[in-house]
Amino acid sequence: MNTLRLAALEALLLTDPLQKVDAVNALHLELPVGAEQSIQDPGGIPGRPSHLEFVLPQKVPRRSVHTLQGRAALVHSLAHIEFNAINLALDIIWRYPNLSDRFYGGWLTVAKEEALHFSLLQAHLSTLGFNYGDFPCHDGLWEMAERTKDNLLARLALVPRTLEARGLDACPVVREKFAQAGDQQAAQILDVILRDEVGHVALGNYWYRRLCREQERCDFDTYQQLAKQHRAPRLRGPFNRPARLEAGFTERELQALEEQA
Ligand SMILES: [Fe+2]
Repeated sequence: MNTLRLAALEALLLTDPLQKVDAVNALHLELPVGAEQSIQDPGGIPGRPSHLEFVLPQKVPRRSVHTLQGRAALVHSLAHIEFNAINLALDIIWRYPNLSDRFYGGWLTVAKEEALHFSLLQAHLSTLGFNYGDFPCHDGLWEMAERTKDNLLARLALVPRTLEARGLDACPVVREKFAQAGDQQAAQILDVILRDEVGHVALGNYWYRRLCREQERCDFDTYQQLAKQHRAPRLRGPFNRPARLEAGFTERELQALEEQA
């Protein structure tokens, strides 16, 4: 039986970015969700272009944003993050069974918004004369997805609440770089991304806290344990306090972040 969870897995396996975006746009909640369906990992996850070149984060070349190449490299790195974000949202839909329609529906909205972000960035990149896959990338986001694949609570703690939340801090800084380089188009795309990412992190926060309550765990202490266990990167400030508060982080969590930074 075709279900939303199976269709999400099929979209996740697609390697061609445009086909993946189309498949995500075609997903809809009228499909039965299939919450109880048991689905095996078919291998080949995540689907992504075979020509992507991966390097360690410190080996990703840094170029000035005041050159065309440098600006394109920065747009490319954002496109890569958004491409991963599509895959992450699809992965959370198919991988974890027995959750509510609200859970799957929430991540479906995220997948669609990530597909929009990727499309906007890819289109902008092509106006600069480049395509997704033209620059080396690093694989930190997906590595964390791998490390947390057997534990939904860890996935929520480390992916939306840690790595994606870092995007809230980075967005205004990157937006400013584009604006200063005179790339208003890229700056406007960053505005759309920041607006939507607050909602994505908020969704991660909501489900993380809800699962903690159901498991009778303290959300604050559990986060510290999971971050250590899964070797979460240490986050550096400055933190985007207004966006983080809007996304549901508490004052206590922000203070803990600022103390370790
Ligand atoms: Fe995004």
